[in-house]
Amino acid sequence: MKNDYNFSAEDFGEDYRLITTAETEEDTDRIDSENSLRPETLEEYIGQEKAKESLKISIEAAKLRDESLDHILLYGPPGLGKTTLSAIIANEMGVNLRITSGPAIEKQGDLAALLSNLQKGDVLFIDEIHRLNRNIEEILYPAMEDYALDIIIGSGPAARSIRIPLEHFTLIGATTRAGQLSAPLRDRFGVIHRLELYTDEELKKIVERSASILGIPTTEEGALEIARRSRGTPRIANRLLKRVRDWAQVRGEGIIDKKTADKSLNMLEIDALGLDNTDRRMLLSIIKTFNGGPVGLETLGAVIGEETVTIEDVYEPYLMQIGFLARTPRGRCVTKAAYDHLGCTYNESGAGHQQLSMEDADL
Ligand code: ADE
Repeated sequence: MKNDYNFSAEDFGEDYRLITTAETEEDTDRIDSENSLRPETLEEYIGQEKAKESLKISIEAAKLRDESLDHILLYGPPGLGKTTLSAIIANEMGVNLRITSGPAIEKQGDLAALLSNLQKGDVLFIDEIHRLNRNIEEILYPAMEDYALDIIIGSGPAARSIRIPLEHFTLIGATTRAGQLSAPLRDRFGVIHRLELYTDEELKKIVERSASILGIPTTEEGALEIARRSRGTPRIANRLLKRVRDWAQVRGEGIIDKKTADKSLNMLEIDALGLDNTDRRMLLSIIKTFNGGPVGLETLGAVIGEETVTIEDVYEPYLMQIGFLARTPRGRCVTKAAYDHLGCTYNESGAGHQQLSMEDADL
């Protein structure tokens, strides 16, 4: 698998966190290694049942007709397996996969070169496709629709456009922010799937599968404990598993049971729900400084020293999923469940709480 773009935590503006959803070197290290934790077939891929079922049908139909697969847009929070799913799609179709990302494509020529090197049926994966430059995006329109590159030769009155045919390929675009995609680009995807945060039960299966590949025995409760603290994200589950394995082998008895998982994850300051210091700091700052909210995203970012995109893409999806945070038109509000979890006293008459009604909540 060709990978000319590696994510690092810095790409997402985060300082390194164990529970970061950004892909770290440790995660990518294994892409090509024998004991890769990444599943290679849809059969092995756990979770995302709706997307998987629909992709299975699309793949079978395209193979039956000997055609390339429709262009696919995958969106959802980071770490849910968008790259993995694309590699599986290419593998199931029996074609090559080329991986790049929106910010890595700097000139129209970069994209033109990538496109003209694709063979029939190949998959081109563009991560963070919403960060593609608009003038580069324009190259994609005829490429996706007519499998052609429109190249302008010369300039001024002598300029003319020539059309170069391309092989029929499949573009898989991935984004954490589907809303930021331009309408003409979004409309050119025949298939759009939203990837959801995983359930504890699905993550437990992923942890068990990965543990067996890594050769570390786990009990069901041990795997479930790691799953519960993984914020619905396989990338985090696999990373925590590796840390717990270290602890089990050095301090424990070489097996991951509930006690081992508990002890090692507590030591790493990841609490029973998977919150780390940064989550707690953010929630506590809304509670203490803004009386529970509402607080505007920009203000919150300034107070906790994080970029607003990082707050929106990385912290908020999970905090909202577990009902600790509500997005309202007037800003973010911390819920009673979060107060209880953090051991803070919830005051019904607090300024923020009086204003939070069901109408406000962005459900
Ligand atoms: N490893 C990472 N994501 C996975 C998934 N969805 N299924 C199985 N193993 C995985």
